[in-house]
Amino acid sequence: MQLLDGRITAEEIRKELAEAVQERKRNGKKIPHLAAILVGNDGGSLTYVGAKVKACDQIGFESTLIRYDDSVPEDILLAKVRALNEDKSIDGFIVQLPLPAHIDEMKITQAIDPKKDVDGFHPVNLGNMVLNLPGFLPATPAGILELLKRNHIETEGKNCVIIGRSNIVGTPLSIMLGRNTNPGNCTVTLAHSRTQNLQEICQTADILIAAIGQPDFVTADMVKEGAVIIDVGTTRVDDSSRARGWRLKGDVDFDNVAPKCSYITPVPGGVGPMTIASLMINTLKAMELKGK
Ligand code: GUN
Repeated sequence: MQLLDGRITAEEIRKELAEAVQERKRNGKKIPHLAAILVGNDGGSLTYVGAKVKACDQIGFESTLIRYDDSVPEDILLAKVRALNEDKSIDGFIVQLPLPAHIDEMKITQAIDPKKDVDGFHPVNLGNMVLNLPGFLPATPAGILELLKRNHIETEGKNCVIIGRSNIVGTPLSIMLGRNTNPGNCTVTLAHSRTQNLQEICQTADILIAAIGQPDFVTADMVKEGAVIIDVGTTRVDDSSRARGWRLKGDVDFDNVAPKCSYITPVPGGVGPMTIASLMINTLKAMELKGK
């Protein structure tokens, strides 16, 4: 079994991006500027957004964090999105999800200028992704493809089972891995809460991707010998042995599954850092697309 280490691969990408920033500086060009909107104090979201700002610092991008209280009205948030669309100093921005229940996430997502939508969540970018046209790819699926590519994992002709059909991971990933690209050319099965015979379906997977947010959901008896396992889950579970009282847990029962597989991503340190690296790639791309 080999660990698919997202931290190492993401570090490689950050170095490449840092070099691109230096090159831009030498040529007197603008430095990419990412803004992030964070609503509320959800621990997971705070951690992710903090990591995004830190990655910008490491690469040499500019970053701006905009925070609102949980109770922010939807129209205030919409007005901010529109202001960021118009702000020439901002090249790309994200609104960290999930948002509080009183805010319509789709309405906010659709208000973002697709040219600044570095999360790739806007319908225009998702549509372009489906048709393999230029645009921004959603960060987590793109990060997973980059992880497979940079670790020379063959995908062509493989059976890939994805558990979870979310708009931001499972659904776009099923399209990206099924199309005629490298990585890609998989025979994809998108499994979900209504799937029957999930265990048998998972046992057919050469590549098994879990993205449901249920700790230890994938057990060893669901996994084929030699499979590649990608764990997208990052649930906080209580851990009194840690000073902070919690740790992150993936969707895969790592200890029992790892001995059976050829490659497996750890949690933390697998897909998470790759999601952030993809966002950084998209931010540089946003800048370059402007021809600046
Ligand atoms: N919440 C979970 N993943 C993501 C992501 O990739 N982007 C945003 N904006 N919110 C998320």
